[in-house]
Amino acid sequence: MDTMADRRRVADRLPTFPWDRLAPHKATAEAHPDGAVDLSVGTPVDSVPERVREALAAASDSPGYPATYGTPQLRAAAADWLGRCHGVSADPAAVLPSLGSKEFVAWLPTLLGLGEGDTVVHPELAYPTYDVGIRMSGAAPVASDGLTALGPAPVRLVWVNSPANPTGRVLGVEHLRKVVAWARERGAVVASDECYIGLGWEGGDPVSVLHPDVCGGSHEGLIALHSLSKRSNLAGYRAAFAAGDQALVDELLAVRKHAGMIMPGPVQAAMRAALDDDDHAREQKDRYAARRTALRGALEAAGWRITHSEAGLYLWAAHPEHDAWGSVALLAEHGVLVAPGDFYGPAGAGHVRVAFTATDERVEAAAKRLRALA
Ligand SMILES: Cc1ncc(COP(=O)(O)O)c(C=O)c1O
Repeated sequence: MDTMADRRRVADRLPTFPWDRLAPHKATAEAHPDGAVDLSVGTPVDSVPERVREALAAASDSPGYPATYGTPQLRAAAADWLGRCHGVSADPAAVLPSLGSKEFVAWLPTLLGLGEGDTVVHPELAYPTYDVGIRMSGAAPVASDGLTALGPAPVRLVWVNSPANPTGRVLGVEHLRKVVAWARERGAVVASDECYIGLGWEGGDPVSVLHPDVCGGSHEGLIALHSLSKRSNLAGYRAAFAAGDQALVDELLAVRKHAGMIMPGPVQAAMRAALDDDDHAREQKDRYAARRTALRGALEAAGWRITHSEAGLYLWAAHPEHDAWGSVALLAEHGVLVAPGDFYGPAGAGHVRVAFTATDERVEAAAKRLRALA
């Protein structure tokens, strides 16, 4: 009897990991005499702020179990940051720490009890983990930017992501209001991934789904995700939180407690220190602004056209003569590695995503190589 075959393997429901397909181009880029410039993944490269490291170290004697809910000080710091920086009035009781936002994205449909027969909508071009998390739960993913032509299946959850990965697109207040109204009429939850909210470059500051102009002052049915990975270079700490509807937060907390989804105590202390300080975030944003300007100018001079990209950590670039993989190959020959747009959905097949998460020295090297292509 083959009992293995009886299991409904979660792994079988998931797509193959796309980054393996980039390996040959990575090897090409690495063969460049001056070394590769990797603008594909988008991982922070600058130091963790000193005060955050000090807070981590000061909390390192941490023998006991931390609370899944986080310390009251951490939740207060998150609520305070939402108010101070994003005009959102959140009750600290409606804040829930997560181990980075990726795990929260991946598990949210499951933790909300979704499964077979349920539909979850995510953006057409999107961070792949929305699709993965929906499939893990057994629900059906629908990749769509519009909500009007979705068919009869009950939509339980709608993901929005503004500023967006990979396009850098920002959804305005009106757009978000319509999503919230549509979802509330149907009893669907809106999960808004706002992990790039502090990185607006053009067209004004991105707005949270929890902002009163969007939600009318009520957080009912809404959950917003925030991450310290990019704002404070804390991708290695796994520091993020969700905030919004108190009933949803209570429900998720109840499950996460049982499941051991607990942020380590020293990370809670470090995250609080990061949330309490805006100076380091401003400095980091300035670094990214300079890198963005350098890469944008060099890409445009070499024939790529930038679309959206008004916020976030990426340039969304298309070349009139090359599709996504053609651009990847050409840039790799010049020692620059970027991500093909179809990693994020078929609609990205004409674009590449260029991250500006590399050191000033590597960004300057990439700009120089691009200018030579012009
Ligand atoms: C749209 C989006 N959401 C969530 C994440 C996960 O970030 P983290 O788990 O580091 O908080 C990322 C990471 O790049 C992302 O691009």
